[in-house]
Amino acid sequence: MAVLVTGEKLEILITEAEIASRINTLAEQISTAYEQTNQLVVIGLLRGSFVFIADLVRCLDLPVEVDFMTVSSYGNKMKSSGQLRIIKDVETDLKNRDILIIEDIIDTGHTLSQVISLLETRKPQSLRICTLLNKPSRREVDVDIDWVGFDIPDEFVIGYGIDYAQQGRNLQHIAIVKKP
Ligand code: PRP
Repeated sequence: MAVLVTGEKLEILITEAEIASRINTLAEQISTAYEQTNQLVVIGLLRGSFVFIADLVRCLDLPVEVDFMTVSSYGNKMKSSGQLRIIKDVETDLKNRDILIIEDIIDTGHTLSQVISLLETRKPQSLRICTLLNKPSRREVDVDIDWVGFDIPDEFVIGYGIDYAQQGRNLQHIAIVKKP
């Protein structure tokens, strides 16, 4: 797919091979970081993280549980006052667990900072963050990220789980959406 049905052109930013190679490196680092625990639960934030988490957990050399959350913010998510709405919560009891949150992309940081605040109330033993993509130039709220796949410029991207108006999640690479 080089053009969306809505007419925007796509320009490859990160290839399938580059993603696979980076995931191998991240998985090695994550496997080392958690080698002393058997309490790891990896939580994917839906929908965007579904491809990344599927590939990442299959590269982990660890006992690992997988769970998912779907959240959205009320009103304008650009505002830090936006309230987090849980559409689907995790099913795992997180008390004393080592949580690794998996995101596809961190932009302003509002979503993640609210998810972190929420999950900390569940009294985990530890909570760390792994994101495939990071847009540092867009940050409005500080978030400590433990593992970043790629820092990217402030461009609209799709593919590998990430959508543009719900299109493009099935692309095997990450592409920039070029508006006409
Ligand atoms: C995206 C992404 C993050 C959030 C990042 O989700 O998956 O959760 O936006 O933005 P922020 O740092 O500015 O809060 P989106 O709301 O597009 O939903 P999706 O995962 O279902 O595609």
